[in-house]
This record gives sequence, C-alpha cells and structure tokens, in this order.
Amino acid sequence: MSETLIEVVDNAGIVRLTINRPKALNALNSNVLAELERVLVELEGRDDLRAVLITGAGEKAFVAGADIGEMRDKTPEQARAFGRQALATFKRLETLPVPTVALVNGFCLGGGCELALACDWAVASDNALFGQPEVLLGVIPGFGGTQRLPRRVGPAMALDLCTTGRKIDAAEALRIGLVNRVMAQSELEAYGEELTQQLGGNGPQAVRAAKQAIHDGLEQDLDSALALETALFAFCFAGDEQKEGMSAFVEKRKPSF
Ligand code: CAA
Repeated sequence: MSETLIEVVDNAGIVRLTINRPKALNALNSNVLAELERVLVELEGRDDLRAVLITGAGEKAFVAGADIGEMRDKTPEQARAFGRQALATFKRLETLPVPTVALVNGFCLGGGCELALACDWAVASDNALFGQPEVLLGVIPGFGGTQRLPRRVGPAMALDLCTTGRKIDAAEALRIGLVNRVMAQSELEAYGEELTQQLGGNGPQAVRAAKQAIHDGLEQDLDSALALETALFAFCFAGDEQKEGMSAFVEKRKPSF
C-alpha cells in the first residue's frame, strides 16, 4: 500500500494537514507537492472550512526543505517546472479563504521555511531552527523565499538569511517577525489546537473578510485598499453573523456563530 504523504484530519471544518515523510525530515518532493495540491483543491471550495493547520510528522522537523536528492540531477527546465509546481501549490495555500497556521515543530529550512511563509500564522517550538540555506547548495530559494521572506521580515534580514544561509533559532525568528509565537515543544500541539479552535470559533464570514482585506489590500495602493476595507466592512452587515455578534454583546451572552 502506498504511503499517505499528506494526512488530513477534519474536525468540523478545522483541518489539520500533516506532511508525512519523517524519515526524510518531511522534505518536499514532487509527490508530496502533488498530494498537497490535491488536498488544497478539495479544501478551497468548502463553505464549512474554518481554519487550516499544517505541520510535519515526527519530533524532529516541520520540513527540512525541498528534496535535495530529487533535485540533484535536474536540468534548468526541470528545475523551472519543479519551482512552478511548488509556487502554484503554495499559492493555493496562501489564498485559502480561512486562516492558515504553520505549526513548526523542529527544522524549518529552505522549502520548509517557504511553506511556513505561505501561511498566515507561524507558531514554533522553542527548539525550531529556521533558514534559507540554498546558497550552501549552490542555488537560491525557489519556492517563494526571495519574495515572501522580505515581505515578512524586511529586505535587510531576508538578504542576510538568503545570502549567508545561516540558521536562526526560534527566539530570533520571533524577534524578526518570521513567527507569531514560540512555545515549549511539549506545549506546541495543545497550543495549535487551542489557536485553531479560537480562529474557527469566531464569526466565519468576518474572519474570511479580515483575511481578504489584509491579503488583497497589501497588493493595492492605500486608498484602494481602504476602499476595499470599507466594502468588506459593509458586507459583514449583510448576513446574520453581525446581528448575532452584536446582539450577544448587548445581551451579555456568548455569540453563537
Ligand atoms: N532533502 C532530502 N532529504 C533530506 C533533506 C532534504 N532537504 N533533509 C534531510 N533529509 C534526509 C537526510 O538525507 C537523511 O536521510 P537518510 O537517513 O536516508 O540519510 C534524513 O533526512 C535525516 O537527515 P540527517 O541525517 O541529515 O539529520 P541531521 O539531524 O543530521 O541533520 C538537517 C538535520 C540539519 C536538517 C540536515 O538534514 C540538513 O541539512 N538537511 C538539508 C537542509 C537544506 O539544505 N534544506 C534546503 C533544501 S534546498 C531547498 O529547499 C530549495 C528551495 O527553495 C526549493
């Protein structure tokens, strides 16, 4: 029987994806990318989706990068196709309409760091190590790192990481804004569960609108982006969710979304 490369656990629209190649530290080969893409295509059309968490199997790694063995003998054309495959898959992840959380439980290198950058949240264990070590292999990041990393942490730090290939610990990743939270490894799972439950428990239409406003707004000039915010703010008043949220506040009870 073939190995399940992406394990999917669905708890009422809160979906957990586990990249399952622990013996290779969950390195991303073309089969893993194809399977991830297939899973994301299924998720993106679902109205009941609330939040997505992505992590790596085993105790040691989130993802230790693109698969170096698979890449070693590639021609430039094959490398281009591999990069495009990953970029398309990561774009699907980035543009899921609900919050996405990278739960980083160890090595988060190269394509692994790029995968985390395609998520809205990154929560790391205190022993996690991050980096874009591609220059040590004679290449550059090819799964979005040269573009998403400077947008997340600024160009100076992105240039530092992409040209030295050095690894940084979770504390430094937190300091530069690469991750949102750092937890003791023993508490990481519980926190991931708590966070996704919290995200999934908020008004689903409002959460989707907040993500859309931030993601789409960043691609526009400020005035257009502010107009987008106004449109989405008004849209929130069109459904039951806003009435329930505000009524619950006035009636001093918890909202039921
Ligand atoms: N690709 C393929 N296999 C990998 C891998 C990768 N990126 N990273 C680790 N593995 C494999 C190892 O080959 C090893 O397999 P075997 O047991 O069959 O030998 C297994 O995972 C365990 O790894 P190690 O024995 O090396 O474990 P370690 O604890 O000694 O070291 C590590 C851990 C520091 C993460 C080390 O494995 C390492 O440096 N890995 C490569 C990290 C890297 O360079 N990533 C960037 C890849 S390039 C990229 O991602 C380009 C891009 O942008 C598209």
